[in-house]
Amino acid sequence: MSSEPPVVYISVRPVGRHSYHLIKESGEYVINIPSAEQARVVDYCGMVSGSEVNKFEETGLTPVPSSMVKAPLILECPVNIECRVKQVVPLGSHDVFIADVLAVHFNKNILDEKGRPDPNRFKPYSYCFREYRLLSDKLGFHGYSKRG
Ligand SMILES: Cc1cc2nc3c(=O)[nH]c(=O)nc-3n(C[C@H](O)[C@H](O)[C@H](O)COP(=O)(O)O)c2cc1C
Repeated sequence: MSSEPPVVYISVRPVGRHSYHLIKESGEYVINIPSAEQARVVDYCGMVSGSEVNKFEETGLTPVPSSMVKAPLILECPVNIECRVKQVVPLGSHDVFIADVLAVHFNKNILDEKGRPDPNRFKPYSYCFREYRLLSDKLGFHGYSKRG
């Protein structure tokens, strides 16, 4: 939402979401960005509730203590963003949790020689019309339309 200071958001339904109450009460959350290798386990985590099952035990994902917030990181996710809620905006079905970014962690295996995240190593994917799709094909680069 903002780069300076870095601000992000997530949008969570109050109804039927164990995470909603954890975030509301703690004022903190971690965004764990998965790689394509984790697509199946991420789908599973989006199909069952933490109020019914312990997702770490069920999936074998590894919780790791965060540096700034109480919520754990997920070791297997190549990017972890530690967040502290600064504003909650109720929109209707979902509440938006706007948060300051306190820390960002990258798995070194996804970084190129210059220390930048490399999409070929990261294998990012997206949710698209109820399917999961790789974001692999390069279409251009920032500003390429002006350079001709
Ligand atoms: C691909 C995908 C995306 C989802 N996105 C959201 C979302 O943005 N907000 C939300 O409230 N629930 C979303 N869900 C549903 C929750 O992840 C799901 O209800 C989950 O069981 C909630 O877990 P919890 O009860 O442990 O918090 C999504 C599910 C999937 C599979």
